[in-house]
Amino acid sequence: MAVSSEQLAINKPDPWQDLRGKIVMVTGASSGIGWEFCIALAKSGCRIIAIARRMNRLKSLCDEINNLDRQENEGEARNPRVLAVAVELDVNADGSTIKASVRKAWEAFGHIDVLINNAGIRGIQLMMSLNSCFCFSPIVLGVIV
Ligand SMILES: NC(=O)c1ccc[n+]([C@@H]2O[C@H](COP(=O)([O-])OP(=O)(O)OC[C@H]3O[C@@H](n4cnc5c(N)ncnc54)[C@H](OP(=O)(O)O)[C@@H]3O)[C@@H](O)[C@H]2O)c1
Repeated sequence: MAVSSEQLAINKPDPWQDLRGKIVMVTGASSGIGWEFCIALAKSGCRIIAIARRMNRLKSLCDEINNLDRQENEGEARNPRVLAVAVELDVNADGSTIKASVRKAWEAFGHIDVLINNAGIRGIQLMMSLNSCFCFSPIVLGVIV
């Protein structure tokens, strides 16, 4: 039975639903929500640039992602064998340090499509560490913005 163009249009995902091949940089990827974002996005076909300070945890995350079924992503990225890379960065570092890490992140897959600026502090820790300087640090602004 022939399928009408209307039926084809209904079955086709909207562009924003198709994440295959997108390069997503996630800060705060070494635990919690950031870790889960990375796994979920990788399963949806994204390449992940995982950012945080604890490189041992980022490497575990990247190993887990790189061991996922790679078939779905093949043919879309520069290096089909690598789905996730870890980049060490303290988001409170000085501008030139951040710039160097972002450059490294950019060069991992040749570009970045999406930033998930998740790095931050959980509620109670945040309330206890707030002072007038800390309020305007990137880590708090990252939570608010
Ligand atoms: N959990 C909740 O119920 C909840 C609710 C509302 C909002 N949020 C927000 O969601 C975000 C994630 O929360 P979570 O519960 O997943 O927290 P989490 O498990 O404590 O994870 C925080 C992440 O941020 C990273 N991080 C902290 N300081 C950093 C820094 N200076 N530079 C780079 N990375 C840094 C940590 O990595 P390293 O220590 O390895 O650097 C870690 O990967 C936070 O921004 C939090 O405020 C959480």
